[in-house]
Amino acid sequence: MGEEVKKDTITKAYARWAPVYDVVFGPVFEHARRRAIAAAERTGGRILEVGVGTGLSLPYYTGESQLVGVDLSEPMLRKAHARVSGLGLRNVEGLLVMDAQKMAFPDNSFDVIVAQYVVTTVPDPEAALDEFIRVLRPGGEIVLVSRIGADRGLRRVIEKRFTPITRRLGWRLEFPWARYASWAERKESVRVVEHTPLAPFGHFSLIRFAKTKSVSAVQIDEDTVEAEAAAEIA
Ligand SMILES: C[S@@+](CC[C@H](N)C(=O)[O-])C[C@H]1O[C@@H](n2cnc3c(N)ncnc32)[C@H](O)[C@@H]1O
Repeated sequence: MGEEVKKDTITKAYARWAPVYDVVFGPVFEHARRRAIAAAERTGGRILEVGVGTGLSLPYYTGESQLVGVDLSEPMLRKAHARVSGLGLRNVEGLLVMDAQKMAFPDNSFDVIVAQYVVTTVPDPEAALDEFIRVLRPGGEIVLVSRIGADRGLRRVIEKRFTPITRRLGWRLEFPWARYASWAERKESVRVVEHTPLAPFGHFSLIRFAKTKSVSAVQIDEDTVEAEAAAEIA
């Protein structure tokens, strides 16, 4: 798909958003954030929040989950650091400047990847989703809150029209569900678990993907079982 939104545009946009972000995007998206976190904590364990921003969602987690946050924007992360120390959130392991498309974590590092209002802002969404799958352990889940653009009709026309403006503000308007669906279809180890449009207008959705065992991992398990069976017979 190429880089439709430039990294430089994103960092500049979120440096401008950082001082006012919580006022503009805090309460209005609280319901969706809480839904995503409840979904993430059903799996629980070590959770990576990609594009954690100012850390608005961090206090919504129970203390049970271990959290790591990454974001491209230093000014947004500074706000997140202040929130974590102000509220004494001891379950936050770290907040790191990192690109969602190329993260410094080893494969299979996390039980859950959460990304809220992020996939439509990154330069190459499919590359970011690939990276989420890489750092997620088999059996883990990706939990997204994401804008889903219209497939057709007047809303589609309006979204296309305003896209050049919103890209400068730091996100895409046009992002049909088909783009997620075709990414998942191309991946052997990915299964769509949930796609629920959220109130009030259904423009944003709660989306969950599961990472199934990779083909080679299943093969290794079968080989091990066969070897153990052979050893028992011998
Ligand atoms: C709309 S904000 C959402 C912030 C937070 N998740 C929330 O719910 O309020 C998008 C965030 O994604 C971050 N972001 C955009 N592209 C990124 C990338 N390639 N890697 C990491 N973070 C990125 C931005 O810096 C910004 O903090």
